[in-house]
Amino acid sequence: AIDIAKLRDQTGFITLDSGFKNTGATKSSITFLDGEKGILKYRGYSIEQLAEKSTFLEVAYLLIYGNLPTQKQIEDFQHQISRHTLVHEDMKKFFDGFPSKSHPMGQLSSLVCSLSSFYPESLDPNQTKEEFDLTIIKLLGKMATIVSWIYKKSLGHPVIYPKNKYDYVTNFLHMTFGQRTEEVEIDEVVIDAMNKLLILHADHEQNCSTSTVRIVGSSDCNLYASISAGISALWGPLHGGANQAVIEMLEKIKNDGGDVDKWVNKAKDKNDSFRLMGFGHRVYKNFDPRAKIIKKACDDILEKLGINDPVLDIAKKLEEVALSDPYFVERKLYPNVDFYSGIIYRALGFPTEMFTVLFALGRLPGWIAQWKEMRENKEPIGRPRQVYVGENDRDFVPIEKR
Ligand code: ACO
Repeated sequence: AIDIAKLRDQTGFITLDSGFKNTGATKSSITFLDGEKGILKYRGYSIEQLAEKSTFLEVAYLLIYGNLPTQKQIEDFQHQISRHTLVHEDMKKFFDGFPSKSHPMGQLSSLVCSLSSFYPESLDPNQTKEEFDLTIIKLLGKMATIVSWIYKKSLGHPVIYPKNKYDYVTNFLHMTFGQRTEEVEIDEVVIDAMNKLLILHADHEQNCSTSTVRIVGSSDCNLYASISAGISALWGPLHGGANQAVIEMLEKIKNDGGDVDKWVNKAKDKNDSFRLMGFGHRVYKNFDPRAKIIKKACDDILEKLGINDPVLDIAKKLEEVALSDPYFVERKLYPNVDFYSGIIYRALGFPTEMFTVLFALGRLPGWIAQWKEMRENKEPIGRPRQVYVGENDRDFVPIEKR
């Protein structure tokens, strides 16, 4: 084996890999991904089995603690979380200060970071296991409340407080779609779809937001601020923001007369910056296994809720054309997880700007698990190198002579 550190010291060589296309940043035992074969597993369990048989909270426990919980463990976990779903009333004042039209992702990132002010014990990098578990529980509990509040604010409606009698996902849906004046029954179909979506988003190894969470945490920065940084990374349309961008694109195509071929050609044109949103992935060079599951869930939920969404027809046509077009075939550009998720979120009643926030709610356990693993493995601070290509040895020129 080559001792890279020694080689670097002797020769000054460093590797240059823009976008980290071929650079492994860590060893991890959380998520396995085979992009060529289209395989995704959390802690050794296939995503297909987990989406079919598990719940989001169980998957969160699995990712964070390494094993599926026993009945007692999941009951304790649920109980602990439900005791920490309330958000500090002072934080509500801060939340009220956001303009009602501000993007939900900006609000989410700020609110999650502010948890470090309300729970300053989280700043201690040497928290005991019990203290750190509580920091995690608080984040899981409060995130669902914060997300539902952001949604309510976008409508101008009063927020709904959490109720301990519900499980995690049902509670979230109640705070989101419930009313203060009466108890609203949430359809089992909706609870099931939400569980599936959150499970499918729960982790995806070293993507842009997860790497951000790990690198921020590697400076011994607290969990809340690290995850807030991950939320910001997720916001961009090339990453989690793609789910919002997909629906906006599909609507644009529909309003433009539904000529799918025209838009596919636009995406192929190298002089045009337009890309088919929801297509392509850095690692998957095959069908994204999450997209397969979501596509089926999407058909099921639209049928069960009796929704006929013309945007779904455009999506299907687009997928058909793209999958048979040599441009997409040669570049192995398949629909990714974001291609269909937005259609389900829409069917459930969420506005487009909330889609990426829902992705963040699902990704939260993965970010926590990755941060915890990084700390437990005592990984060094993340600090990439660079190849300097700027000016050398310039003499300072006084301002009047420039
Ligand atoms: N539409 C048209 N062409 C595309 C697309 C697309 N969606 N995606 C990639 N290509 C083309 C590129 O132009 C490039 O072509 P070239 O070889 O002729 O220059 C080739 O395919 C490879 O693309 P890269 O940008 O080099 O691939 P990279 O791995 O850097 O990017 C990414 C991956 C960002 C996901 C890209 O495919 C993309 O922009 N997709 C659309 C946005 C999207 O859906 N993002 C969500 C990703 S999943 C997630 O983060 C949850």
